[in-house]
Amino acid sequence: MSLAFTNSCTLTRPRSFGQKEACKKLNISNNTSLLATPNSFVNGMRVCVDIRWIGTAGRSKQLPSSSKLQMSFSPNPRYKVAVLGCTGSVGQRFIQLLEDHPWFEVVAIGASSRSAGQKYSQACRWKQSTPLPNYVKNMEIRECKASQFPDVDIVFSGLSNEVAGDIEEEFAAAGKAVFSNAKNHRMDPDVPILIPAVNANHIGLIDYQRQRRGWDKGFIVTNANCSTTAMCLGLKPILDRFGIEALIVTTMQAISGAGYPGLPSMDIIDNVVPFIGGEEPKMESESLKIFGQLEMEKIVPASIQVSAMCNRVHVLDGHTECVSLKLKTRATPDEVIHSIDHFPSFTRSLKLPSSPERDVVYTDWIDRPQPRLDRHTGNGFTVTVGRVRECSVLDIKLVLFGHNTVVGAAGGSVINAELCVSKGIIAQKAKESAYAVSHK
Ligand SMILES: NC(=O)c1ccc[n+]([C@@H]2O[C@H](COP(=O)([O-])OP(=O)(O)OC[C@H]3O[C@@H](n4cnc5c(N)ncnc54)[C@H](OP(=O)(O)O)[C@@H]3O)[C@@H](O)[C@H]2O)c1
Repeated sequence: MSLAFTNSCTLTRPRSFGQKEACKKLNISNNTSLLATPNSFVNGMRVCVDIRWIGTAGRSKQLPSSSKLQMSFSPNPRYKVAVLGCTGSVGQRFIQLLEDHPWFEVVAIGASSRSAGQKYSQACRWKQSTPLPNYVKNMEIRECKASQFPDVDIVFSGLSNEVAGDIEEEFAAAGKAVFSNAKNHRMDPDVPILIPAVNANHIGLIDYQRQRRGWDKGFIVTNANCSTTAMCLGLKPILDRFGIEALIVTTMQAISGAGYPGLPSMDIIDNVVPFIGGEEPKMESESLKIFGQLEMEKIVPASIQVSAMCNRVHVLDGHTECVSLKLKTRATPDEVIHSIDHFPSFTRSLKLPSSPERDVVYTDWIDRPQPRLDRHTGNGFTVTVGRVRECSVLDIKLVLFGHNTVVGAAGGSVINAELCVSKGIIAQKAKESAYAVSHK
């Protein structure tokens, strides 16, 4: 995957590598060999390349700068990845989202010693609303030891908090890029809590993390807690435009947020449980790190007062959150809505495979967002904001909604990994791999 950053790439296969279009654009013969050397301009998966053509005598000739082309590329073959905690609520979502992923191929899966040695279809009680993908049915579950995963570059972790800390560290030390959903490493000063549309520049911490821990290739990137992710994404347009001094958030969180099998039915049917262990402090601390500024080798937390009240409700997937905000610059509800409507679609601009059309959308339905109606917006990757109105205590109040196991967990990790691939941060073992290049 180093085309954009270190290597040059010979475009030799006209159809698959887009040479035909390149030749057409440069007005040279179709079967001329082209040598494309990436220059320093890299914009996500688009890379501006200097094209030279190689004459019959093997000498190359630099074309004028006006003939530079924008090319897009994708890793070929795909990165080999593993899913740890593959049987759980988040793990299953990984298995679902990674089916036919253009950049990532699941070649290994891991879970506890209770499941290890069994085929996935035997060990897993599949709870997703799509069929269990064929690719994983007969895959054997491994124990979560790095030595058992020599064949992967990237590890997606849906491990429970009880075990995630040590296991994820062991895999990163063994050279894997680890994308974690657990709380264990989130607040480590050298580990980013990454949400690309909010704080993509925090991946700058990875270099420091590698230096500090003596890891040459591996690293850990975490997701926020699922309710924090929805809140930070939903509020980002408002933070950027008006600044936020203080906020009070009350959540109504889905059952799947508690993992599988989660709460006993006797506890949650016909009920609201006004307690989720550890959730309120997580929302209050992680949001400040996410909204913080990367300065040199650390994140300086944002200076916002945050008060969270978290409730478990009788909903399957998706967290709904009522938020009241005190803004730094006063704004009307219309101005707040305008900031959401005009929030740039950051992940889409990077052309990441999982990026939704919009990272955040505003709904003007008077009674939305609602879990049943809004959980599939942007395939679960988009946060929906609605009911923006004046608050008689603070300045503005609103309701936001995000899918807890997609954007708030597995999907968030997948898009984080896509961002890291697009920035050339992840080493790929299959160095000899070809790069599919196509003219954009
Ligand atoms: N659910 C959400 O919406 C959500 C959102 C954001 C973050 N998270 C976080 O994501 C992580 C996973 O959550 P979840 O809801 O998917 O939990 P879960 O349904 O309870 O799944 C836990 C997974 O961890 C595995 N595991 C347990 N003990 C293990 C051990 N000793 N060694 C190796 N694997 C072990 C389990 O495998 P077995 O089946 O073999 O026991 C299972 O695959 C947690 O850290 C959670 O806080 C969850």
